[in-house]
Amino acid sequence: NNYIVIMAGGVGSRFWPMSTEEKPKQFLDVLGIGKTLLQQTVARFKTIAPAENILIVTSAKYKALVTEQCPELLESNILLEPCMRNTAPCIAYAAYKIKGLNPDANMVVAPSDHLITNEAEFIRVIKNGLEFTVNNDTLLTLGIQPHRPETGYGYIQADSINNEKLISKNFETDNRQAITDNPLNVIAFKEKPDLVTAKEYLAAGNYYWNSGIFLWSLKSIVKAFEKDLPEVAELFQKGAAVYNTNKEQAFIDEMFPTCMKISIDYGIMEKADNIYVQPADFGWSDLGTWGSLWEKRERCEQGNTVVGEKVHVFESSNCIVNMPKNKKVVIQGLNDCIVVEDNDVLLICKKEEEQRIKEFRAAVLND
Ligand code: GDD
Ligand code: MG
Repeated sequence: NNYIVIMAGGVGSRFWPMSTEEKPKQFLDVLGIGKTLLQQTVARFKTIAPAENILIVTSAKYKALVTEQCPELLESNILLEPCMRNTAPCIAYAAYKIKGLNPDANMVVAPSDHLITNEAEFIRVIKNGLEFTVNNDTLLTLGIQPHRPETGYGYIQADSINNEKLISKNFETDNRQAITDNPLNVIAFKEKPDLVTAKEYLAAGNYYWNSGIFLWSLKSIVKAFEKDLPEVAELFQKGAAVYNTNKEQAFIDEMFPTCMKISIDYGIMEKADNIYVQPADFGWSDLGTWGSLWEKRERCEQGNTVVGEKVHVFESSNCIVNMPKNKKVVIQGLNDCIVVEDNDVLLICKKEEEQRIKEFRAAVLND
């Protein structure tokens, strides 16, 4: 009954200029380990569900990239969007399609561009979470203990007091081991706060980062769409008769552009009242930005990490540098900077300004 939905239709614009619209970061081997982020994601889930139950939702223009990188998946499991509508429509499409296959399904929804270093723990947490969602009408997210006031993530405010009640109600145990493995009740879900607010969340202690990995039963997520995004629910419900037939793509191609653009975080998670968070620690990182990649990569004593064979660095610290193999480069006196050349673009900016890379990218694209 377990279905995995991998969202792979984003453009990874904060990883520009390495990640481009033609080939966004989920299709890149950003760590240089011989596997793209998407391939790593699929591999992680193969122990949780058979390949027939793994779906990838992406943009039609990435069809060739997905089939090339994931040859083990069924063609009918690659869901193609004619245009980008953010994550809520992406999830609705998968949910209503799965409904036609198995109305009792349990789902995991995951981004395609994360790094997870402790795979065994990841699998254990997912299996545990699936057991919870099969028995409870809840939307469960995996929460990560924050260690910096990151403004690129959603934050989940957990209620530890209610949690005690939930545990005694649902699990009839006060065993400490079980408590750590049980989800916490959520007071509020806050998508991407500003820096001042993020600092307050960090200091408060009961906030977790939203990992973007969601678990729920098909019934619970369909109910949530009907309640919080009824227009979206209605559009996708209209296709009930054509999902999993040869008319599915034509229906989606026609209907999808008429759907609103909204993320699951703003559209459902911020509004729903049956949200739980499972605190988890499996070496998670979004790898959403150059700064997060800098954190993960091996660095020299001065804190620099360099890709490129002809790069010379002097009196510089805490920089991430990505240069083409044979480009001759000298860097002097730069601290906490991103220096990247790829796809005919050279970007040099402060790490602390990296949330603005979307804006820089737009400036170049409009040139
Ligand atoms: N199919 C499809 N269609 N996939 C999409 C679309 C779309 O229109 N837009 C984004 N995605 C995919 C991306 O490829 C990525 O794998 C995932 O959905 C999440 O989208 P992002 O654009 O990377 O979201 P984010 O990182 O800004 O924020 C989300 O993830 C954070 C953790 O990584 C939110 O859920 C935050 O709350 C969360 O903290
Ligand atoms: Mg992301």
